[in-house]
Amino acid sequence: MQPKLTAKARCTDKEIGRISKVIVDPLSHEISHVVIQVNHGQAQERKVPIGEIQEVVSEEEVILKCSSDEFEQFPGIDRDRYVTLKEVEIAHLEEHLAVEPGEILVPLPMLERGMPRRTFFANMTHAVGAMIALPIAYPVLKYLMKPMYRTFDNSWFNIGNVQKIKKENIGVQFKFTRGVKEAFMPEEKVTKNVWVVKTTPQVLDKVYGKKEKKFEDSAGKVIWMNKPNVPYVAYSGKCPHLGCGYKWRRVKKYPDGVFLCPCHLSVYDEAGIVLDGPAPRRLDILPMQLTASGDVKIIDVVYKAGVKEEIRLL
Ligand code: FES
Repeated sequence: MQPKLTAKARCTDKEIGRISKVIVDPLSHEISHVVIQVNHGQAQERKVPIGEIQEVVSEEEVILKCSSDEFEQFPGIDRDRYVTLKEVEIAHLEEHLAVEPGEILVPLPMLERGMPRRTFFANMTHAVGAMIALPIAYPVLKYLMKPMYRTFDNSWFNIGNVQKIKKENIGVQFKFTRGVKEAFMPEEKVTKNVWVVKTTPQVLDKVYGKKEKKFEDSAGKVIWMNKPNVPYVAYSGKCPHLGCGYKWRRVKKYPDGVFLCPCHLSVYDEAGIVLDGPAPRRLDILPMQLTASGDVKIIDVVYKAGVKEEIRLL
């Protein structure tokens, strides 16, 4: 008997909710926490160390070691501080856990939150009781996760007007809000970043090499082509290394400005080319069109982070 992602979670005295997510330590590749959605807590979720699971009763139920009062002391989860395995690639993690990707969360790098670089991920190593917990966690994960096969969303989003861009060859940030639905959870509104560069012909050549850039749907059918003569380029706001948000910055070495990712210091020029750091590929170019009035529309294409090739996920 093995539990599912939506397994009920019971404290020593009463049922308190259902497991909604699992958090994995990216360094040790071990499960550090389960996230429990509280029954009557206005969609409140609490993060519970894996060692607090006392028993997997059935596919539908796990029992925690704590009472419901003690459960209240576990912290909530700040969803913005995590990414899913659909968004980043952690080498061999899925093999190690013998699970399929689903609602597994990985903490965002600490530098994203202004922490020293050497503490990157360090405070997420909750291996408490891992040796004991893993035999429980394996079946939990194996059955919690469902593969998320769905077709890509090729909707166009209006992100703003090019009048906002006053100068060529610099990154200008645009934002838009969209609904995002993760497995088993209600749709949430999230605000996403896109960087747009108004390019000179030289930079445009660096971006496209005079060739159209094709974008495909999940069946491999071409859905859009960016033309190499449109002097605006839109980049996904996620760093292709591990998915952090990057910024346009002027730094001593690059006084005219570069895209700089604070997590592991990848640096990209205005054409999205990697100048420095561990990024495995250039910035991800989005399908983009301009309306007659200068509105910028994009498709919110998401590629897998951490790999050289563009592997579309969403
Ligand atoms: S996420 Fe690592 S350099 Fe950007």
